Amino acid sequence: MTQIKAQFITLEGTEGVGKTSNLEYIKSLLDSAGIDYIVTREPGGTPLSEALRDMLLGSQFKGMSDDTELLLMFAARAEHVAKVILPALQQGQWVLCDRFTDATYAYQGGGRQLDMQRIQILEQWVLGDLRPDLTLLLDAPVEIGRERAGKRSEPDRFEQERDAFFNRVRDCYLQRARNDSTRMKIIDASGDLASVQQQIKTVFKALLPS
Ligand code: TMP
Repeated sequence: MTQIKAQFITLEGTEGVGKTSNLEYIKSLLDSAGIDYIVTREPGGTPLSEALRDMLLGSQFKGMSDDTELLLMFAARAEHVAKVILPALQQGQWVLCDRFTDATYAYQGGGRQLDMQRIQILEQWVLGDLRPDLTLLLDAPVEIGRERAGKRSEPDRFEQERDAFFNRVRDCYLQRARNDSTRMKIIDASGDLASVQQQIKTVFKALLPS
């Protein structure tokens, strides 16, 4: 089997686009190809970052300022990168991460309308040269996602936002994907699971060793 550099793969999308089921599908593709990998998520992925996730998503600090939210996202990310992502990649393990910095651009930049340049500065500071090798953007109209997500449990602090917020998030994700189409692949997630998986399989075919 041809050996390729450990890949850093991230999965993005607005609420209810099917990240969880498609993550399972990606795991099955990596398993079939005999890839050594870890699965992690943001915000989260270490005990400290998971504690920050609870603060960010729970209702205890419902009224936190937008800047606090942005800085906590990057604090969680700094810990996650240092303790989990970089060590795994350095050991040759692939990393499959449920959300990463594109989510900060989309939610805090697009959704909350924070200055994108400030996010860029934090990205450079916290990540240095580290960027995902591949990002799958699961895209579907906000109404479809909301309908699917609505069938699940109690909404978290982000899920309580209005459609206008999520439309800004979606637009920002799409714009980023169009500006960086080599790294970021748009997957049309509005159809059934089989059609979404077919698109994911095509993307991975180009990446996985044969
Ligand atoms: P989820 O990963 O279970 O969908 O929940 C994470 C929530 O956190 C989701 O609503 C998106 C939000 N989020 C941000 O707002 N900014 C970020 O940088 C990240 C990683 C997530």
